[in-house]
Amino acid sequence: MLDRTYLFFVLPLVLAIKAEESGTFFTVEENEFLLNEKVFLRIKGQSLFSCSQICARRSGCKGANFLREKAEEGICLLLSELQTEHPDLTQKWQGSFYLKKSFIDQAILMPYFVGPAIDTIHPTANHNSCQAILDHNNHASSGVYQIDLDGGTQDNAFRVYCDMDTEGGGWTLVWSYTFTDYDDFDDNSNAVTPRPNWPANSEVDVPVSTTPPQSEKDYNALNFSMWKHLGKQVLIKSNINNWLMCQPGTGSLVDWKTGSVSCQVIKRVTTKCQSTQGPTNIWISESDNSYGPMYGTSGKSGIYYYFDGSQSNGWPTHDPCAQNQENNLRDVNSPHGNIFIR
Ligand SMILES: *[C@@H]1O[C@H](CO)[C@@H](O)[C@H](O)[C@H]1NC(C)=O
Repeated sequence: MLDRTYLFFVLPLVLAIKAEESGTFFTVEENEFLLNEKVFLRIKGQSLFSCSQICARRSGCKGANFLREKAEEGICLLLSELQTEHPDLTQKWQGSFYLKKSFIDQAILMPYFVGPAIDTIHPTANHNSCQAILDHNNHASSGVYQIDLDGGTQDNAFRVYCDMDTEGGGWTLVWSYTFTDYDDFDDNSNAVTPRPNWPANSEVDVPVSTTPPQSEKDYNALNFSMWKHLGKQVLIKSNINNWLMCQPGTGSLVDWKTGSVSCQVIKRVTTKCQSTQGPTNIWISESDNSYGPMYGTSGKSGIYYYFDGSQSNGWPTHDPCAQNQENNLRDVNSPHGNIFIR
């Protein structure tokens, strides 16, 4: 015999609820959600069934989104327009239901599963990365989204900025930094700030952030131990150095491993060193007495990006020539850099 719970989780089930008003039915699709723009009334503490009844009695209501919060209760969002009119606004969203009001001759009549089966569904109204959001809605634009790394209850969900445009999109912003002494760029007093809570020696003295940045100039960092759950590809953007997209090799930033990487220059911010290729190595700090990870080419004389977090030693190289020199752009307003993971 088929397990009903299994049916609900795996199949895009379509069923019908008969409303009290004669002739009105609802087709119900699990894990479908119409984005908020067309909601005209939001009522908490409803069941899926009462949500359909409220919509049935309202003439302006063409359908509803139902989001389950607890076993018996959820939020009922009444919609003034429907999915068929706005297919681009529909998202696959686990734990949600999309109810479409229709009349007896239009309703697709299917067996009732509304009883015990629905009660076993757990709310997981979030995706676990910007890439997952893009996979579910390939029209998603760059901006702030809520993600939930473990996909369970929403208690530990948080907001992140997603770049949905660069190199196919799906990038989760994990770090936005500026500099402690940009004007004196190659001075020991210069460092990136704040820094993620990655391992560092005692001379690394800039503030640590574990607050996810909400934009490219919101200088903060997502808890470093979460980065690896978002992916392994790294996008480095800056307004003073070229942008890089890096695939891991034997080395990996998120896995905190020194070794080979394969970085491509995806945007030239400066006209200097047009023929210089992207970095081929990553060096992770601790082991070699440095003050943060570095990306570069052959040997440490070839540094392209150095995320130096010490205000008394080293300086945060941003060199498009990969020569560990001060070839970054000067006199830029709000000089900064960003790391995204996918
Ligand atoms: C960072 O995340 C880890 C694992 O998820 C957790 O144990 C730790 O408490 C977090 N640190 C901070 C400062 O939030």
